[in-house]
Amino acid sequence: SYTPSKTDKFSFGLWTVGWQGVDVFGTAVRPPMDPVHAVEKLAELGAAAISFHDDDLVPDDGTRQQVLERFSKALAETGIVVEMATTNLFSHPVFKDGGLTANDRTVRRYALSKVLRNLDLAAELGASTYVLWGGREGAESGGSKDVQAALDRYKESMDLLCAYVQEQGYDIRFAIEPKPNEPRGDILLPSIGHAIAFINDLAHPELVGINPEVGHEQMAGLNYAHGIAQALWHGKLFHIDLNGQHGPRFDQDLRFGAGNLREAFWTVDVLQGAGGRPAYDGFVHFDYKPPRTEDFDGVWETARGCMRNYLILREKVQAFRADPEVAEALAVARVAELSEPTLADGESLADLRKETYDPAALAERGLGFERLDQLAMEHLLGVR
Ligand code: GCO
Ligand code: MN
Ligand code: MN
Ligand code: MN
Repeated sequence: SYTPSKTDKFSFGLWTVGWQGVDVFGTAVRPPMDPVHAVEKLAELGAAAISFHDDDLVPDDGTRQQVLERFSKALAETGIVVEMATTNLFSHPVFKDGGLTANDRTVRRYALSKVLRNLDLAAELGASTYVLWGGREGAESGGSKDVQAALDRYKESMDLLCAYVQEQGYDIRFAIEPKPNEPRGDILLPSIGHAIAFINDLAHPELVGINPEVGHEQMAGLNYAHGIAQALWHGKLFHIDLNGQHGPRFDQDLRFGAGNLREAFWTVDVLQGAGGRPAYDGFVHFDYKPPRTEDFDGVWETARGCMRNYLILREKVQAFRADPEVAEALAVARVAELSEPTLADGESLADLRKETYDPAALAERGLGFERLDQLAMEHLLGVR
């Protein structure tokens, strides 16, 4: 019953299952994966969609045509769709100081042309989201980057890209992916909040949202479930990168459910609508790295694990929300009361000020949050 199907809308980056395991300390542990094989295998496992960086799919111009023909054929045969695409603006040495915010203007122009080229391909393949992860947009030292100028240039690029999408009539929205650090010492737009604030200053904010990744917020010690709740509140959760992370340390990119399991539970709860709100209805995209210890069987095991863990957590969350004892604990905790406006219809601040309050009595009321949390814990642990 935890077997995924296309209606679950699971999606994987080509670079996830295809990760060869090159890290800072070691070389590749697995051979390259043929994108056609990735498509076929993901379809077999029950995924619905795939995403890619330009360089994952078409590493060189000589074979571009042939690669795209084989890839499109595999998509048609399996029913896997391309839901998202993105640009690699971080691997090639030319991007050592970033792409869209590199100090070197020629590098910025090259970076923008690289984005445009893959944006055209994304539109051709039917992607609805175009992600921008600015992994190299940042600095290691204070004097080397004029941050305000960098934000001007980031905005300039986003404004140009939005105008281009409108001119071309592409049905594509952009999603900026925040990350606090790694590979740069400090990355621009380091968190969900920074990215949303930036988007609100763009020329076409309606075309730009965010693609928050579990591990990236947690690397900064932030609460991911709260982060995506705020993104939903702003109408900015355009896409999502699910994976696992053990607190503030290097970007682990574990499979979804590994690492901070309790936050994974609340994440699925928020995505499912947390008891009464509209659920997130976009693709459930996994961005993780199968550990270097794994051979290809292990790789597919991790892909299966991401989807199974999501489905298991979805069931746990539904059971939690349907539990009458949870309903009672929620009432004691006054959770629904928070949706009542502080000032009633027709009331004025004067009404609120003239009321007599008994702070001592109010302070005495317990809220019963621990009972509520224990119930969630017991659902998660499988004893309810
Ligand atoms: C990371 C990032 C990247 C981006 C991807 C899309 O783990 O640091 O998630 O994987 O999501 O490269 O550009
Ligand atoms: Mn990551
Ligand atoms: Mn990501
Ligand atoms: Mn990643």
